[in-house]
Amino acid sequence: MAQATFEEISASDFFYRNRDIAGLTNPSRAIFVAIREIVENSLDAAESQKITPDIYVRLSYEGEATKETQIYKLRVEDNGSGIQPRFIPSAFGQVLYGSKYKLKQTRGTFGLGGKMAVLYGQVTTHQAVYVTSSTGQEKIYSFKLMIDIQRNRPIILDRKVLINKDNWRGTIVEFTLEGDYLRAMPKILDYFKQTAMVNPYANLTFVDPKGRLYKFTRGTSTMPEPPTEILPHPYGVDVELLQRLIQITTFNNMSDFLKGHFHRVGEITAQKFLEFSQLSPTKNPKKLSHEEIVRLMQNLKKYKDFLPPDASCLSPLGEDLLRAGVMKELNPEYLVVHQRKPSTYAGHPFIVEMAIAYGGGVPKRGTFVIYRFANKIPLLYDEASDVSYRVISAMNWRRYKVAPDMPIAIVIHICSTKVPYKTVGKEFIADRPEVRREEANALREVARQLQHFLSRQEHVHMEKKRLGIFSKYLPKIAEFSATLAGEKRIPDIEKLLKSVQKYGSEES
Ligand SMILES: Nc1ncnc2c1ncn2[C@@H]1O[C@H](COP(=O)(O)OP(=O)(O)O)[C@@H](O)[C@H]1O
Ligand SMILES: [Mg+2]
Repeated sequence: MAQATFEEISASDFFYRNRDIAGLTNPSRAIFVAIREIVENSLDAAESQKITPDIYVRLSYEGEATKETQIYKLRVEDNGSGIQPRFIPSAFGQVLYGSKYKLKQTRGTFGLGGKMAVLYGQVTTHQAVYVTSSTGQEKIYSFKLMIDIQRNRPIILDRKVLINKDNWRGTIVEFTLEGDYLRAMPKILDYFKQTAMVNPYANLTFVDPKGRLYKFTRGTSTMPEPPTEILPHPYGVDVELLQRLIQITTFNNMSDFLKGHFHRVGEITAQKFLEFSQLSPTKNPKKLSHEEIVRLMQNLKKYKDFLPPDASCLSPLGEDLLRAGVMKELNPEYLVVHQRKPSTYAGHPFIVEMAIAYGGGVPKRGTFVIYRFANKIPLLYDEASDVSYRVISAMNWRRYKVAPDMPIAIVIHICSTKVPYKTVGKEFIADRPEVRREEANALREVARQLQHFLSRQEHVHMEKKRLGIFSKYLPKIAEFSATLAGEKRIPDIEKLLKSVQKYGSEES
């Protein structure tokens, strides 16, 4: 029998072999994912500095198409933070390397997205990626890079330094990749429209390979408050995290250790918790045995009196910006928005924001149009697997006098330090009971307000009909009665009509 052979592969090798995990399944999906990931990085880079984003995306044909494949060049320019030159090679040439492994809300999470797009470009076209960036200082740095997939390291093929005469700040990323734009086009355009909806303070420009220009202009320059980084919440910790904290801590007693490394733990909470878990406040955390660490973790989860995480690490849109975004992109006849209070699942804070738009520019599809967003990213695939789809389907719409064939769009935004995605491809939200409950409550609230609007509309409609009947027959009755009474003058019926009107004339 042959002997098994063992080998180790690098992170980039793993993702190279399993591109599907990140959503790079076929040429059409790949081109969509590549655009999305690079644009997301640009949005993150601008928002982190509270800069209103200006993002320019150019997709062009590169070389001749064969029967099966077409090569494209993707260029994305932003006015974001820029990247310091020493980080550029790894940020674009080393999988699982990034600046967003922190406890605050960002679009990127895994240190993966941008690199997966670059890696896909490299393996399908064997070309390098060009990254030009400046943080607004005197110099602009330009790199030509490839990824050493087996070692998961960047290869710097060229590096240029230019003088930054105009104080330019931002990043330009350019690379080639195989794709199928024509098939991906509807999704890509949807992506831009929806990104504009949930980032109403951004200017987005997209020029497609046929030279068509799509421009989404900002409707406001107000931006949500950027999130601040927080410490891990006690409910979210596991043994691994505890061990790491114990390793790096400079505190030599349990009380300071808890206060210094955990979110929402102050003097009194630390004291009460230590009493609860029968640990001495003066015990040195580095002296905890493995069993004690496991017990500590269990107690952290069990203890009921930790305050829930505060929401400063989140950056929701807020009702005003959500309203501005939906108005700008859908222009509905009626719109109601609602933001839920912060909530948590497994120690991760999250906020649900919801809107219902009715009539006007809302597309009529015969069913509700659902727009799903997570951390201001549109989710365009696998709608039926998303928790929000279940929440919407489970709702008793008849109670709210709403029928699915009405022109209704439902907008759902969840933001969290850890969005409960089911896959690395970031397409749909897992069915967590806490998330489901928040979404259901938000949906009920907006549905209730929509119901008010609809019944008011119905009343106005009925009233119009009633007045229509009056005004049709009253003149005849007046004329007839006048003749019958031998009167020459027909009475003025306007007054009469006004007196039966229930609503002000501006409403009818
Ligand atoms: N346009 C950009 N502007 C500034 N920094 C960027 C930009 N694109 C990428 N980066 C940096 O590169 C890192 C890696 O990006 P990426 O591979 O997409 O992973 P992630 O976004 O999940 O962190 C980011 O964390 C960020 O620090
Ligand atoms: Mg990213």
